[in-house]
Amino acid sequence: MEKAIAAGKAGEPIVALFGLFGKDEEKTIQQVPQHIAVIMDGNGRWAKKRGMPRKAGHATGAETFRRIATYSKDIGVKYFTVYAFSTENWKRPQDEVDALMNLFRKYLKEAIEDMAKNNVAVRVIGDLHVLPEDIRELIRDCDTVAAKLEDPAYATLCINYGGRDEIKNAVRDIARKVKAGELEPEDITEDTITNHLYTADMPDPDLIIRPSGEIRISNFLLWQSAYAEYYFTDVLWPDFKPEDLDEAIASFHQRQRRFGGV
Ligand code: IPE
Ligand code: IPE
Ligand code: MG
Repeated sequence: MEKAIAAGKAGEPIVALFGLFGKDEEKTIQQVPQHIAVIMDGNGRWAKKRGMPRKAGHATGAETFRRIATYSKDIGVKYFTVYAFSTENWKRPQDEVDALMNLFRKYLKEAIEDMAKNNVAVRVIGDLHVLPEDIRELIRDCDTVAAKLEDPAYATLCINYGGRDEIKNAVRDIARKVKAGELEPEDITEDTITNHLYTADMPDPDLIIRPSGEIRISNFLLWQSAYAEYYFTDVLWPDFKPEDLDEAIASFHQRQRRFGGV
């Protein structure tokens, strides 16, 4: 296969071509978005359609997370970020919140075991202070293992995450520095704000996917999504397949990103 073809022309759906050459085809891998984020939505409706409790939808949605995170790493996506629990989701019935916390326990334990083998750094971002202590400990253990990985792919779970809450916390940190005389108000730049967010060491998302038919952002990555491309699909998250990710990436490749230019 000619390199020129592998590299693709502008706007060509690169992932649709993926099967034509090996997974380690360097040029192909470079074409996928560097950072894909997903608002994992539709678990409850998926369960309702089957006469099952909402928590069954969350359990299947968590399996989908594992599958899609693995697939995105395999096709060369460096950063894969998912919205797993918002600062607003505490409003849900206690047994649903408990079921979600139990899934976080299960998947974090699994991540600690598997991270080194897969060279995927699993991270959790959000306001973690209010999470149960045992979950916070699992997150610290994850961080310890992740710190030892060399040039890993990143799978980031947003738990008790809210875009406005994140910006509020950044503003507080910056205000403290100003008050302490460490920073002049005139020296606050956009980068200062970026560097005080939970995502300080990550690039902005290139592509944000929301399944389940809702066309809103529900307080996800508000600052970071300034120039993200959005992809909405009616597929419910537990039904989301690698082919749906291919389709989202193909759509991404049809877009012309201008970043305010011409
Ligand atoms: C997304 O699925 C998972 C979380 C928000 C934790 P939902 O639980 O919101 O599913 P729907 O939107 O009710 O179908
Ligand atoms: C967004 O989904 C939050 C997560 C996916 C974790 P929601 O189901 O909570 O959002 P709304 O209520 O439909 O806006
Ligand atoms: Mg929902």
